[in-house]
Amino acid sequence: MSTVPLIPENAPFTAEQRAWLNGFLAGVFSRAAVSGSPVGAAGSQALTPLTVLYATQTGTAESLAKQAAKEAGKRGFAASVLDMAGVSIEQLPAHANLLVITSTYGDGEPPDSAKALHSALASASPAAQLASVRYSVCALGDTNYTLFCQAGKDFDAHLEKLGASRVAPRTDCDVDYEGPFTAWLDSALSAFGSAPATPSMSEGASETAAGFSKKNPFPAPVRIVRNLNAPGSAKEVNHVEFDLAGSGLAYEAGDALGVYPHNCHDHVSAVIRALGCDGEEAVPSPAGELPLRTALTQHFDLGKPSPALLTLLGVSEPVPHHVLDALLAAPAKPAPALFVGALKKIQPRLYSISSSPKAHPGRVHLTVGAVRYEVNGIPRKGVCSTFLAERALAHGTAGVFVHANPAFRPPADPSVAMIMVGPGTGIAPFRAFLEERAATRATGKNWLFFGDQKAATDFLYREELEALRASGVLTRLDVAFSRDQQEKVYVQNRMLEKAAELYAWLEAGAHFYVCGDAGRMARDVDAALHQVFVTAGGKSPEAAAAYVQSLKTSRRYQRDVY
Ligand SMILES: Cc1cc2nc3c(=O)[nH]c(=O)nc-3n(C[C@H](O)[C@H](O)[C@H](O)COP(=O)(O)OP(=O)(O)OC[C@H]3O[C@@H](n4cnc5c(N)ncnc54)[C@H](O)[C@@H]3O)c2cc1C
Ligand SMILES: NC(=O)c1ccc[n+]([C@@H]2O[C@H](COP(=O)([O-])OP(=O)(O)OC[C@H]3O[C@@H](n4cnc5c(N)ncnc54)[C@H](OP(=O)(O)O)[C@@H]3O)[C@@H](O)[C@H]2O)c1
Ligand SMILES: Cc1cc2nc3c(=O)[nH]c(=O)nc-3n(C[C@H](O)[C@H](O)[C@H](O)COP(=O)(O)O)c2cc1C
Repeated sequence: MSTVPLIPENAPFTAEQRAWLNGFLAGVFSRAAVSGSPVGAAGSQALTPLTVLYATQTGTAESLAKQAAKEAGKRGFAASVLDMAGVSIEQLPAHANLLVITSTYGDGEPPDSAKALHSALASASPAAQLASVRYSVCALGDTNYTLFCQAGKDFDAHLEKLGASRVAPRTDCDVDYEGPFTAWLDSALSAFGSAPATPSMSEGASETAAGFSKKNPFPAPVRIVRNLNAPGSAKEVNHVEFDLAGSGLAYEAGDALGVYPHNCHDHVSAVIRALGCDGEEAVPSPAGELPLRTALTQHFDLGKPSPALLTLLGVSEPVPHHVLDALLAAPAKPAPALFVGALKKIQPRLYSISSSPKAHPGRVHLTVGAVRYEVNGIPRKGVCSTFLAERALAHGTAGVFVHANPAFRPPADPSVAMIMVGPGTGIAPFRAFLEERAATRATGKNWLFFGDQKAATDFLYREELEALRASGVLTRLDVAFSRDQQEKVYVQNRMLEKAAELYAWLEAGAHFYVCGDAGRMARDVDAALHQVFVTAGGKSPEAAAAYVQSLKTSRRYQRDVY
């Protein structure tokens, strides 16, 4: 492998700047090079530098970036991992070999920490500013969203517009991202001139010593499922506890737990009936040949039908809500093996962990809102939230794995204050944060904004929160019960009532956290935060926006929203 200059001759720097940057980068790369046994590491042969630049909201892109760097290290690169939050457009020319891994959030937007770089690239003039950069993009997304992988598409287009050379085509990954990601990484590293893939090239998230991972979930005993709402509530939120003993699974406050659900028996029976089968027919499944009933219960997604299924069934309009609707509308029923061949694999759901491992060793807690709604007068229910609510305890176990989210953590400095906004199930990670701060005797102040429909029935974890308040761990607790009075009162109303104090906490360095509903609540809380800087901080709307952006970039504003 040949040595390449870190800053190419044609990069837009003076000779002096180039020399300084080369020295600086050489230091950075040697410190940050991912451990392992890089190909060609022996002797004095220098490694090819490679930067894996990621943007994440809930940790997936970060974990894949670390995986990419590890693999690149084995294949002869001095690979470093960089969070987009800390990178400006001016720094990009220094990264001659660049892998970009980004998810998409909101309505086709980049993750919070990447917004600054995203808009800088979008508004940069299309002179060949990045001619020194060779790159490839891996976009993470979900085809259920209209603007599938939009942030990845944007970064790819912006880099090209600014003169960077795409060495391997972008890959857009759906929720089942492991295979496409591995294929992309192999093709991108090969395009950068690497040795062939190592036989052990990992396809998934890290495994525990006992071998449990997203691909091989731990069958965790379900110990407790307890409704947190009082009788008469319109909501159904369950506190769920799993036993992790013997799994080797470890988590931190801020991580999420992935749960593999089973489909509802009645729903599976209805699908089997619609197929004209009895459920005993042998069909192929991701776990090998299984009876149709078992395969449909455990391995296939019976939610939104795939395009392949609609084609197989000859059904198009009106768009069916569920696989069952499509089957019922089909002019002819396919053979069961063909039918399952056109289904998507069942996907795990993520839940923000609501316990600190320091407070509950060997256990993990979740706070799960049961999803129930009607379509055209027909009752429907969410697969995983109602599996946990109705059947998990009786079934005994559920397949789980830890989804690390290092971008969502209490402050590293225990004396730094936290402001947490978590209405409804958004309380989950903040219960974990508070348990963590109590267990570690952190001295930083803690302020929680919680809200739900009615104080009498929906004040989740009320006793615990009041005890934390009484003990002084929770410095302030502000609640907003939306349906206890004529006018709606939401957490952001409480924030605005306390704007001066909130501003003072932020000015003193507090971190600001939001968890829960992404569509309405998180957007309105964000607007309220801007308003706090205008009213209490005396800033212009533009200066307030810049302040909020700087909080995001410096990771003092962290969101876990869904
Ligand atoms: C990082 C992260 C953390 C999360 N943390 C939590 C948590 O702590 N607690 C929690 O409860 N959830 C949490 N969630 C959400 C959770 O992952 C699941 O999405 C949720 O439980 C629903 O899953 P389900 O299988 O029950 O529903 P699904 O079977 O997936 O059904 C949900 C789908 O049903 C449809 N739907 C829902 N309501 C309606 C309606 N009114 N009308 C028409 N269609 C509708 C929509 O298509 C929706 O996408 C989190 C999500 C993420 C990404
Ligand atoms: N992506 C998914 O698959 C998925 C799955 C489950 C839940 N979710 C989302 O997660 C959310 C969490 O559900 P949850 O039951 O825990 O709580 P929730 O529905 O968010 O309700 C909690 C409290 O927030 C209030 N609220 C409503 N709109 C608000 C706004 N714009 N700003 C601030 N507060 C607002 C509610 O008031 P009112 O009800 O009185 O208006 C209620 O008092 C749901 O809203 C849902 O959108 C998504
Ligand atoms: C609230 C929310 C909004 C999302 N919006 C989009 C979207 O607009 N387009 C898309 O392709 N994927 C969207 N996704 C899916 C994520 O991009 C996908 O789950 C990704 O793997 C998350 O990666 P991360 O953990 O690195 O942030 C969304 C996910 C959530 C929870």
